[in-house]
Amino acid sequence: MMTLPRTRLAVGAFLSLASSLALAQGAAVSVNLGGPNSPPDPNHPGKPLYDKYCATCHDHPIETKSVPFATLRGMRHGTLHYALTQGKMKLQASPMKEAEIGTLLDFIAGRQVMDESWIARMQCPANRAKPDLTKPATVAHFGFSAGNPRALTKEQSGLATDDFKNLELAWALAFPGTTTLRAQPAIVGDTLFYSAGENAKLFALNIDGDTPCVQWTYTAEVPLRSGIGYGQMPGGRKVITFNDVATRIHLVDAQTGKLIWKSHVGLYDLSNATGTPVIHKDRVFVPLSASEINIGGDDRHLCCKTHGAFFALDIRTGKKLWTYHTMEEAKPIRDRGDGQMMWGPSGAPIWTSPLLDEKRGLIYVGTGEATSAPAALTTDSILALEMKTGKLRWKYQATKDDIFLTACMRNPKALNCPRQGLLLDHDFGATFVMGKRADGRDILLAGQKSGMLWALDPDTGSLVWNREFGKGSPIGGIHWGMAYDGERVFAPIHLFPGPDGIDPNQKAGLHAVRVDDGKVLWSYEPQADCSGDRPKRVPNCKGVGLTGAPTVIDGVVVEGSADAFLRVFDRTNGTLLWSYDTARPYLGVNGVEGHGGAIDNASIVASHGLLFVNSGYGLMGGQRAGNVFLAFRKKAGN
Ligand code: HEC
Repeated sequence: MMTLPRTRLAVGAFLSLASSLALAQGAAVSVNLGGPNSPPDPNHPGKPLYDKYCATCHDHPIETKSVPFATLRGMRHGTLHYALTQGKMKLQASPMKEAEIGTLLDFIAGRQVMDESWIARMQCPANRAKPDLTKPATVAHFGFSAGNPRALTKEQSGLATDDFKNLELAWALAFPGTTTLRAQPAIVGDTLFYSAGENAKLFALNIDGDTPCVQWTYTAEVPLRSGIGYGQMPGGRKVITFNDVATRIHLVDAQTGKLIWKSHVGLYDLSNATGTPVIHKDRVFVPLSASEINIGGDDRHLCCKTHGAFFALDIRTGKKLWTYHTMEEAKPIRDRGDGQMMWGPSGAPIWTSPLLDEKRGLIYVGTGEATSAPAALTTDSILALEMKTGKLRWKYQATKDDIFLTACMRNPKALNCPRQGLLLDHDFGATFVMGKRADGRDILLAGQKSGMLWALDPDTGSLVWNREFGKGSPIGGIHWGMAYDGERVFAPIHLFPGPDGIDPNQKAGLHAVRVDDGKVLWSYEPQADCSGDRPKRVPNCKGVGLTGAPTVIDGVVVEGSADAFLRVFDRTNGTLLWSYDTARPYLGVNGVEGHGGAIDNASIVASHGLLFVNSGYGLMGGQRAGNVFLAFRKKAGN
């Protein structure tokens, strides 16, 4: 696929010739004149547009939870254009004419040719070309299997505890024009279903060999977002599901890569699909989030009207069977001070992937904060929905009156900023886990961005115990997920400055907590340091946090860090067995040059003796961008 600014076709055609010449010599295949490879031109006509419409936030990525300018420059025109014309940045770009948007994109990303010819070169030979989907999935969704433990056995992974003491890089796949890898693969037999998101493609990769090869490629119109869910339709057809930046859920035949249906689930322009959909029997369960939090603090926006939701889709057609709304529709509430009205209630987005409980017929999801007053009683809550009907069975609200808009951290006097309330941003974003107590009773485990780990009775929603690890923050606390080994739940705590800076009591690191009573069995707390290139890696070089979801494999737990380290611990006592700095350059097995960066969201999986991880997450608060999917194996002769 070539992505060219409309005004530069002639140059683009020339570049495409240049890049095929470079390819013939085996060189890197992404050509990007301007963009991240050269300093921005201060006299470029797009510079004043950037200064006027973007710099207030993107020059302050930490305070505004946005993407630094340098990372925007590594994005594809397609990603940028979608964000500005239809996606999250539509309001910011709305005063600009179409031609100005073109000029701005030219300034940010330069003239690009994305050479995707590696895909054709890496097609599987005939004996590896067809997915064999007869075995059950190793990784079926965000939580891997029933109860969401994010745990794999030695047999499933092909890796035993001792193997982790000495791993080496087996191969890397690098993706051109990519800054953030946010999708966790699904694995079935020899096939790993993978999407690098920004290139709008999903691959079925055969991983049974020295190098991976491509079985099929599925291409969407817009960038993809979530991890991949796997399952089967009534009748036995094997399928995968995932979402895109336009809040569409895709259902694709896992054998062939052919689209079965696409279903638009967004309720508003500012709806957002984040959590990985889960397939169960004849349904696809889908969470719906919102991005109004990012623009709500702008005076031009009439704040706020969106809220989260959850859907059961018919797996045959993609039609909604039921919808759960986290609150009623917003209505005008009060004059915000300039004669225009504030709207509410709003917020409570759902971006956890669901926890399914077949025994009780329930689905558990978490919600985020309110974006305007009055804060609904379903914000920052754990919800139990009836699987059949979507009716709310019970709820547990962990934090009341948390009303948050990103821009209010820097500019609390803006018209839409809350006059009362807590300004915390303490969502439940981490997918829940079902554990077992010593006496065999089930226990529902939920991590919050507040730094609190909650354990509830799944029948009633009443509190069993809770454990605090500091105050949390907008990207702090327990962010994306936890793992569970049958006895301990592993909670990563991220450190990130909140409205009052960094909480000195925040216990950033990985904590093993006994599920029976909430006792902390061991903790790994990396030390903050500001030496070497650390200030470049993390927005605040003190940020040593762990934000991505960990994974249990045999006797170890594996975790990635925002400053790009992959670490393996003995899960019984926390001994650090192995660590690897993924922030380095790679030449991919696909011939594409890449670089590692922050390890975030969820991606750590294993199969065929390979440990997989995404390295690069440029989306949040100035974290380091990157574009490599890495596979590690046991070192030979060890
Ligand atoms: C008021 C603050 C603000 C302004 C002004 C702003 N942005 Fe953003 N931008 C953000 C935030 C916050 C995010 C992160 C959103 C998220 O991850 O949900 C973001 C995300 C993005 C993304 C990634 C979108 C995605 O789909 O993940 C792009 C691209 C982007 N901005 C481009 C721009 C450009 C270009 C401009 C100028 C026209 C601009 N932004 C103006 C705050 C802002």
